[in-house]
Amino acid sequence: MKTIMYISTVLLCVWGLFACSADKTEYTVTSPDKQLAIGFDLNSGKPFYHVTFRKDTVIYPSQLGLMFKEAAALSGGFKVLKSEIAQHHSSWEQAWGENKLIQDHYQELVVYLQEEAGQQRLMNLYFRAYNDGVAFRYEIPRQANIDNFVMMDELTQFDVNGNPDTWWIWADYNTYEKLYQHTTMEEATWVATPVTMKGDKNVHISIHEAALTDYAGMTLKQKETGVYEAELVPWANGDKVRGSAPMKTPWRTIQLSDNAAGLVQSNLILNLNEPSRIDDTSWIQPMKYIGIWWGMHLGTETWYPGPRHGATTENAKAHIDFAAANNIEGLVIEGWNDGWENWGAKDAFDHVTPAIDFDLKKVAEYAREKGVMLIGHHETGGDIESYEKYMEAAYQMCHDLGIHAVKTGYAGGIYPRGEHHHGQFMVRHYRKVVELAATYQIMLDVHEPIKPTGIRRTWPNMMTREGVRGMEWNAWSDGNPPSHTLTIPFTRGLGGPTDYTPGTFDLLYQNAGERVKWNTEDISMTRTHSTLAKQLANFVILYSPLQMASDLPKNYEGHPAFQFIADFNADTDESRVLNGEVGEYITVVRRSGDEWFLGSATNEEARTLKVELNFLEPGAGYLAQVYMDAEDADWQTNPQAYLIREKEVASDTVLELKLAAGGGQAIRFVKK
Ligand code: NOJ
Ligand code: CA
Repeated sequence: MKTIMYISTVLLCVWGLFACSADKTEYTVTSPDKQLAIGFDLNSGKPFYHVTFRKDTVIYPSQLGLMFKEAAALSGGFKVLKSEIAQHHSSWEQAWGENKLIQDHYQELVVYLQEEAGQQRLMNLYFRAYNDGVAFRYEIPRQANIDNFVMMDELTQFDVNGNPDTWWIWADYNTYEKLYQHTTMEEATWVATPVTMKGDKNVHISIHEAALTDYAGMTLKQKETGVYEAELVPWANGDKVRGSAPMKTPWRTIQLSDNAAGLVQSNLILNLNEPSRIDDTSWIQPMKYIGIWWGMHLGTETWYPGPRHGATTENAKAHIDFAAANNIEGLVIEGWNDGWENWGAKDAFDHVTPAIDFDLKKVAEYAREKGVMLIGHHETGGDIESYEKYMEAAYQMCHDLGIHAVKTGYAGGIYPRGEHHHGQFMVRHYRKVVELAATYQIMLDVHEPIKPTGIRRTWPNMMTREGVRGMEWNAWSDGNPPSHTLTIPFTRGLGGPTDYTPGTFDLLYQNAGERVKWNTEDISMTRTHSTLAKQLANFVILYSPLQMASDLPKNYEGHPAFQFIADFNADTDESRVLNGEVGEYITVVRRSGDEWFLGSATNEEARTLKVELNFLEPGAGYLAQVYMDAEDADWQTNPQAYLIREKEVASDTVLELKLAAGGGQAIRFVKK
């Protein structure tokens, strides 16, 4: 957010109650390209909104309102005091992201409501129409009759037109680590967001939220068929949101496009967040990283000390050597600290004391010498009370050791018991962590997080997060089917970066050695459901500013295809989605400086995709280094077969990308 290039906010009109005709209760804003519109309407005193795309209804009039524990609901008996419409157009730059430069262009309507009788309470509604979607939020302004309050729910509805195809995961108060379902909307009865739909005329819709900072996470429930209603995640005692006036809710967002790729290109979620609070972002750097990690998930190593302990001083040094020799900037070491024997118990983890066989100071010094960034690891096991006691000292220690990134984890039920990962209690905690980490110049990768809602704009040290059924599930469960990573970019990925951790080369774990089951999900049939080339493609497709190469160094060492990972640059300047269908295939290109990287992948179906290279600089020659599925590659029967080819290309070249079943292709374009 360094340069605000230009801002123009033009107030178009203000209607006072008496300025317009007395019964005028309809208000609409349209997107700058005029394709999208969101309108407000007061119907017998009740607030409603509706959405159109190219004049077709996407959301029928849907009710708005807030429900309280002690006070009456703010949902009816209103009159419009006044309304305002304004245009806004600016562009802003971010320290890192899919696109460093972002256009922020919208029309906004603010409706000021007041109850006509009783306490005459006030509520304001904000509506915005961008070219890539619409959004709205509530404001409870400062007023005499509302002070502190407890909300028991929102009455926010989404009356979706028709019964669109829907890609969704079950709503869950604690986890998003689930496989996506693809059904009609009517069957998707209670879902987490982002939820993505495809309706008539190929209209793609994704409902989510932005700027979730001190509020409960929103799930969507069909209390009435075809109508989603916000269902907020509760506190332990059933309260949903504790607040005081003035307060603004998160934005409720509806991303819209007439093709699936358009959803992925949307910047709506970022644009709806506040500008950066960090002035000097020079310490915030995207990077690739490896880990002492996969061995534990495979069950060949342990997090806790003993004969199979992964985090030994020696092993850490060997990983640092590997990273330094292969252009890998970071290393996460799990199991470096005390407490892993008691994972799950109260007060299990000590976030400042190294394990007995791990010399943290020595390892940190070695990493510094070799120019590799150590990534700290704080598994909390969900014990918030304990972690909050350690946090400050733990970040101070990281800072003193030159560790500028920490992976946090919340694997386990939350202490205090009864609180949920996605409730306001945890939203507050996650936010506290981000702000405190920023003061110690620490970047974050959060596992078992709250979903991404664009907070990275305000706190750019909030780099990446899990909140997805990631690679680890392939190590100890029935795994993720080939379509899974083709669904993520169009669903979970719309919220923000995903720490999926791609990069398995030993897809059948033939080189793993003796594995010990440590997880009840393990049905002894584990493998990664992909070809090798698709693993490379996912580096580009599944955007993460901290991008992990998740396999063991021994599986990368001397492997010709590892060159792509070594060359890949996680610091992206610009991104484009060349094609895609939800759950089926996608092709993404990202520019880093003068180089472009392409990732293309498919689900269970083999296919050939034609792509124009018109994103390359016109007139310039490029060398394309292609990592592709071999002719006979197939995720089920021959996953490891790949080819490396080199080609001279230019911006007028059209490439045919041949993708095997469950396969992919990765290309690096080097300017000559
Ligand atoms: C779950 C995380 O997703 C995983 O990456 C980590 O290794 C374990 N928890 C242990 O912290
Ligand atoms: Ca996890």
